[in-house]
Amino acid sequence: MSTMQARAPDNLHIISLGQAQAGIRDEVLAGLQRQRKSLPPKLFYDAVGAGLFQELCTISAYYPTRTETAILKQQAGSIARALGEHTLVIEPGAGEMRKIRLLLAALRPVGYTAIDVSAQQLVREAERLAREYPWLAVTAVVGDFHDARVRRVLTDASGRPVLFFPGSTIGNFEPSEALAFLREARALTGDSGGCVIGVDLVKARSVLDLAYDDPEGITARFNLNLLARLNRELGANFDLAQFRHHAFYDESLQRVEMHLVSRRAQEVQVAGVPIPFRGGESIHTENSYKYHPQQFERMARDAGFERVRWWTDAQSWFAVFLLGA
Ligand code: AVJ
Repeated sequence: MSTMQARAPDNLHIISLGQAQAGIRDEVLAGLQRQRKSLPPKLFYDAVGAGLFQELCTISAYYPTRTETAILKQQAGSIARALGEHTLVIEPGAGEMRKIRLLLAALRPVGYTAIDVSAQQLVREAERLAREYPWLAVTAVVGDFHDARVRRVLTDASGRPVLFFPGSTIGNFEPSEALAFLREARALTGDSGGCVIGVDLVKARSVLDLAYDDPEGITARFNLNLLARLNRELGANFDLAQFRHHAFYDESLQRVEMHLVSRRAQEVQVAGVPIPFRGGESIHTENSYKYHPQQFERMARDAGFERVRWWTDAQSWFAVFLLGA
């Protein structure tokens, strides 16, 4: 007998759309060659960055994850009742699939479809979920949520589509992009489906400052890991000691901005291209928008959702929205 290998569970279905994951080089160089340098926040999440984010979620200063988790746990019954039966939960950028577990027992959807561009983690986590919930039809779609072929896979499946988008990931979008995303979600979920979306709320500056510049320095490491990643993947030569983490809340824009600030004038090589920095010049790495509940509700209605409910915590720090047609 040759090596023993566990069979893939029967309730797991993997669909690979086989598109090569685009490299980060072009995107990185475009960002660093702008007048005002910037890098997209999705680049935070390589294996090291994903680990740092998990660590961040456990410390007291960073409130969003534990607050949303508590809301989902407490309101699982209400959310499930509002969504009804025969749902197909669709989660773009599913990651570790931790939060959906909080809803599964109450919601009992007919299926769960996770979509992610990084095949390895997606397939591993989908397989784990499928074993844990043998009654659930788990589908892992390797591809981009915006890809028309992914849409076809989703609309072909049975069950009323419910888009699950927790974590205030929507806060990384510009408000105009967030509205466009909600319109896409409305088109995808149709007249019988809905959305469950986590949204971080406007709150006291002191709370935000601490959350995005924590005393343990994990956010700083998370932000600086972006440069370490460019060193690893693009052969860049950033000296991490020559950049500092800077985060602040801009009240008029309702967003936390994260930057990496050059401590002095310097030139860095990135993929063979020289990138000059002035002393004090920054790379803008993230916006994290905060909403008033009524603002988000208005945006959802503008996107065509009519049934809007939401739940929050005792301090009104975070909200989980349920949007329906
Ligand atoms: C994962 C996008 C919700 O904006 O709070 C954590 C990422 N950035 N600390 C956020 C993040 C800095 C996070 N999101």
